[in-house]
This record gives sequence, C-alpha cells and structure tokens, in this order.
Amino acid sequence: MTRPLNVLVLVGSLRADSANRRLADAAVALLPGTATGTISQLPALLPHYDQDLDADAPPESVRDFRDQVAAADALVVVTPEFNGSLPSVLKNAIDWASRPRGAAALADKPVAVLGASASPRAAQWAREDARRVLAVAGAQPLEMTVGLGSSSTAFDGAELTDTGVAEALSETMQRLVSQPVAA
Ligand SMILES: Cc1cc2nc3c(=O)[nH]c(=O)nc-3n(C[C@H](O)[C@H](O)[C@H](O)COP(=O)(O)O)c2cc1C
Repeated sequence: MTRPLNVLVLVGSLRADSANRRLADAAVALLPGTATGTISQLPALLPHYDQDLDADAPPESVRDFRDQVAAADALVVVTPEFNGSLPSVLKNAIDWASRPRGAAALADKPVAVLGASASPRAAQWAREDARRVLAVAGAQPLEMTVGLGSSSTAFDGAELTDTGVAEALSETMQRLVSQPVAA
C-alpha cells in the first residue's frame, strides 16, 4: 500500500484569530484522502537568517525545520499581505529552507500559495511575491494561487462562505498532490 502524501503548511500570520490560519485549516480539510496535512509551528521559532549561524551546526530549530520541509512531499504557503508583500516570518522560513545550496530542503518541492487579507485585493502582491521568492529558492510553486479578500467576513466559524474561493482551494489542493513528488 502506498503511504499518504505528506503536505506541510507554512502560515505567515502568528496571531491567534488569523484569517490565514483559518484558510490553512480549510486547505488541509480539502486535501484529498491520499494526503495528510500538518501546519508547521516552527517558522515562529526560527532565528533571523544569519549566514554565521548557518554553519556546520545550525540551531536546533533550523535543523528541525529543515527536516520537516525535507520530509514533506509538497508544501502549502499561506500568506497575509504586510505592506504590499509577504511577512518576514515566511520570508525568513523560506530563506532557511533554501540553504545549503545544492542540498536545500525546499529544492523541487511543489508548493501551493494561498493568501488572505482584510482588503478585497486578497493579498495579491504577497501571493505574487511568495511565488517569485519560492521559485528563486528552488521550489516549484504552482502557477495558480488562491486569494481570499475581505477576510474578516469570509468565514462562518471554520467554514469558508465564499463558494468560489472554496472551489478554487479544492482544485488547488488536488493539483498540488498530483504533482510529481520530488526525489
Ligand atoms: C504591518 C501590517 C501591514 C499590512 N499591510 C497590508 C497590505 O499591504 N495589504 C493588505 O491588504 N492588508 C494589509 N494589512 C492588513 C492584513 O491584511 C490583515 O491584518 C490580515 O487580517 C492579516 O492576516 P491574518 O488575519 O491572517 O492575521 C496589514 C496589516 C499589518 C499588521
């Protein structure tokens, strides 16, 4: 029997009532039965990227995070928009996972990018920047991203009230796990 695909979710908002966290939960719930999703708690624990720390014995949180990314078959990156781009917690996590060059945990990982913002623009700049940054870092971001605008009114409890976004999310999760799995 083949094992379920392991999808790791990185959320760029740390606040308790985060709309992006809810969007991440909705994405995990929409994964096909052939996959399991885990929301990583590690991005918040990483130090700021520092090449001096990135030596033979990097900090434990960095090692744990790199191991978690390396063990994933695919990733979901869920980004709010802070001042027109992705927040530092996500960029920092991507930077750590992009090294060492040639053996990076992120290399060739399929990634779906989602984003929620309070404005109707649905974190479009943050999603575009996250895609670009992930591609430069060596991952394989899907062409399509999913944006959720006006996020403060987009959920009824855990349920997405915008059926169009829910459909796009479901399609994106399907596509993510049907990508070729990195070696
Ligand atoms: C520092 C900061 C900068 C922000 N910049 C933007 C922005 O450029 N565009 C935008 O649509 N929303 C912006 N917002 C509002 C966020 O979209 C909103 O707070 C959102 O709910 C954050 O996601 P969360 O609910 O997952 O925490 C900003 C919020 C903060 C705290």
